Amino acid sequence: MSWNATSSAAPWWRTLAFRLTASYALAGLCLVFLATVSLYFVLRSELEKSIDLFLADKLHVVRTLLRERPEDWDALREEIELESAARRYQQFYIRLLDERDTPLLTTPGMADQLDLSQLASQIQSRPDHPFSMNGTHGQSFRVTGAPAEVGSPSTRTDTIEIAIDVSQSDALLARYRRWFFAILLGAFAIFPLIGYRVARHGIRPVEEIANTARHISSTNLRERILPEGYPFELASLADTFNKMLDRLEESFEQISRFSADIAHDLRTPVNNIRGEAEVALARARTVDEYRDVLGSCLEEAVRLSHLISDLLFLAHAESPLSHVHREQVNVAEMLDGVREYYEASAEDGGISLTTAIAPEPVIAELDRTLLQRAVGNLVSNAVAHTPAGGSIVLGTALGTGADGSTVRIEVSDTGEGIPPEALPKVFDRFYRVDASRSQASGGSGLGLSIVQSIMLLHGGNVEITSQVGQGTRVTLRLPVSGPR
Ligand SMILES: Nc1ncnc2c1ncn2[C@@H]1O[C@H](COP(=O)(O)OP(=O)(O)OP(=O)(O)O)[C@@H](O)[C@H]1O
Ligand SMILES: [Mg+2]
Repeated sequence: MSWNATSSAAPWWRTLAFRLTASYALAGLCLVFLATVSLYFVLRSELEKSIDLFLADKLHVVRTLLRERPEDWDALREEIELESAARRYQQFYIRLLDERDTPLLTTPGMADQLDLSQLASQIQSRPDHPFSMNGTHGQSFRVTGAPAEVGSPSTRTDTIEIAIDVSQSDALLARYRRWFFAILLGAFAIFPLIGYRVARHGIRPVEEIANTARHISSTNLRERILPEGYPFELASLADTFNKMLDRLEESFEQISRFSADIAHDLRTPVNNIRGEAEVALARARTVDEYRDVLGSCLEEAVRLSHLISDLLFLAHAESPLSHVHREQVNVAEMLDGVREYYEASAEDGGISLTTAIAPEPVIAELDRTLLQRAVGNLVSNAVAHTPAGGSIVLGTALGTGADGSTVRIEVSDTGEGIPPEALPKVFDRFYRVDASRSQASGGSGLGLSIVQSIMLLHGGNVEITSQVGQGTRVTLRLPVSGPR
């Protein structure tokens, strides 16, 4: 068998398969050992008990005969000499002695089997208590003896000695001991094998998970574990692992889509500049024509530099080292500043741009520049998507959130709105509801991603609701004070 289970670098004694096998084998061996040893002792004590009961029974019979029928020698002889001699197994011997230790009756052959003087002295030292002793031919005996009153009322006190040959019980116990060692030896050989198979079977899913993990790379995120037949715990581990792969795959797809979008969005203005320059240089132009070309090149360059600065901003906002420079900001005043900034472009589009500010001052610890940028992005979206005659309202108020006081900033317009299927995607980078139209109007689809990043930096959140043809409302929620 090979222990090369999960890691080729790990020594075999540190593998999970080895540890499980060793624990299983050890537990199995202990169990077999305890079971056989306890069975052995139970059997031995039961055998001993039944023999002692037999001895006590015989003692009682002879005692009763002596007491009740002291002169009935036939009955005594029958009990002491004949019955025992007729037995083939578990031969027992009885001897009846008078007060001067002269044998009155003895089972034939008793003197041949036992050292009778030793028997008599041992019985005298512990009357009525069965004990073991060896016979003269090496057999085992269980013996007992006790004084017995003769007649009723008693005329004298005889002594009864009983010995039973227990060699067969001893042989049975010896056979049992041999079996016991054979079973233990078998268990010693079999348990590690079974344990190994069980351990291999148990850790197979872990190995499969590890194998799958080994094959995962940024170009191969499609592999999944099939947790069929796995135990519950490992199926849940495999499921968690698969879900992690799903998330990784999605993130990688997003990153590669993002890179493709960046390349595309950078290429368009650069191509435009190049195309215009090439056309301009194809033949001699008038000064006005050159001015036009330079003007549109400058426009493209401005677009390009905006895009690059937006991308840099997002990259910076995602860095764990980025932090916000908080200061006391009067939010109403800040909104008024943004309104003034966009007033001219709103007017150009025939849109009314107003603020609806609560009478009480709304003061919060925020990064003024970041907040201006976030609200600016929202207003610029609203201006771009609201037709002439529409209106845009900037509002703010204090509220209470789950973690204390919050400041709410709302930008609502009466513009074209966003279709419900597009709503969950508007915060994705480079996402534009109508890509062709937005491209023409200069949007790159980064504005709302930037708003979301700014909210995350402040520990706040952003919410958008919209109805096609009726308008859109974006709500920013921020904690009034920064983390202490
Ligand atoms: N107020 C709004 N009304 C209708 N549609 C909107 C509104 N705000 C955003 N959108 C839609 O959501 C899309 C994503 O907005 P986002 O601000 O992220 O990108 P953009 O405005 O196209 O480009 P950028 O802001 O980077 O110049 C927009 O293209 C637009 O289709
Ligand atoms: Mg925008």
